[in-house]
Amino acid sequence: MMKESPSIGTNRTGMDLSPIDKKQLIDATESSIPSMAGDAGEIADVRSEYMEGGARVGSVPPPGKLKGIASEMVDALKGSNPSVLVDKLSERLAFERTGTRLYEALVTKHQMAEPLPGGPTIEELRKIQADELRHFELVRDVILRLGGDPTTVTPAADVIAVTSLGLIQVLADPRTTLLQCLEAILTAELVDNDGWSLLVRLAKATGHPLIATEFESALLVEEEHLAKVRSWVQAGTIGLAGPGPVAKETVTGAVKSAVADVARSVAKSVAKDSTKKKH
Ligand SMILES: [Fe+2]
Ligand SMILES: [Fe+2]
Repeated sequence: MMKESPSIGTNRTGMDLSPIDKKQLIDATESSIPSMAGDAGEIADVRSEYMEGGARVGSVPPPGKLKGIASEMVDALKGSNPSVLVDKLSERLAFERTGTRLYEALVTKHQMAEPLPGGPTIEELRKIQADELRHFELVRDVILRLGGDPTTVTPAADVIAVTSLGLIQVLADPRTTLLQCLEAILTAELVDNDGWSLLVRLAKATGHPLIATEFESALLVEEEHLAKVRSWVQAGTIGLAGPGPVAKETVTGAVKSAVADVARSVAKSVAKDSTKKKH
């Protein structure tokens, strides 16, 4: 069973561990001359030189092939650029796929970890994982409806995949704890929330109100994910900090406020559903 608290060991990364070496190191940096001239401007020059080449990260397929991309309000939106929507849909698709895999790894972590105070159950993690997969399928279906190819890796999909690399590394590392992985997942859920909220606005702005409504439902579910993961991270961290009455109180407080957040998200979602049914 993997221990959740940070282990106390022979960490040699700090200078204070060796006062003599520390003094020598500081003396050396103060007395030595840099091996080459220049400052941060040099690296900026090299970067600029590469950028002048004009290379880009991939491309979006020509809109001509996207028959369904013609918006639900074509006349009002003449001149809009459909490649932006296609690019961002492809990005969300990539992220939801990664999210499903991140939660798969998180379940394994959970199985091997000791109980985390105020942490998730496996069932709760499986439920979120199923939501991520459903969201992946939703975006895939929308891309297909618009005449796109969901297997295309657009520039935004490529960039978000690179951005997510650190998260995958944290989740896949056998040494990381459940709590450390939940923190990585928190980063993912924060990005996911903003991603869906942007997609709702983008779908509306490009004349796809029906798609925007579908995305709004996904956003509500993502808000619930965020509230839950946030509560697990807060309660888990404070819980590990100590069994004192103050820590206990704080854990209870963190859980209570997170539960209130989740309840608010659920209430919003229910209210939205009942408004939909009335129409
Ligand atoms: Fe998601
Ligand atoms: Fe999520």
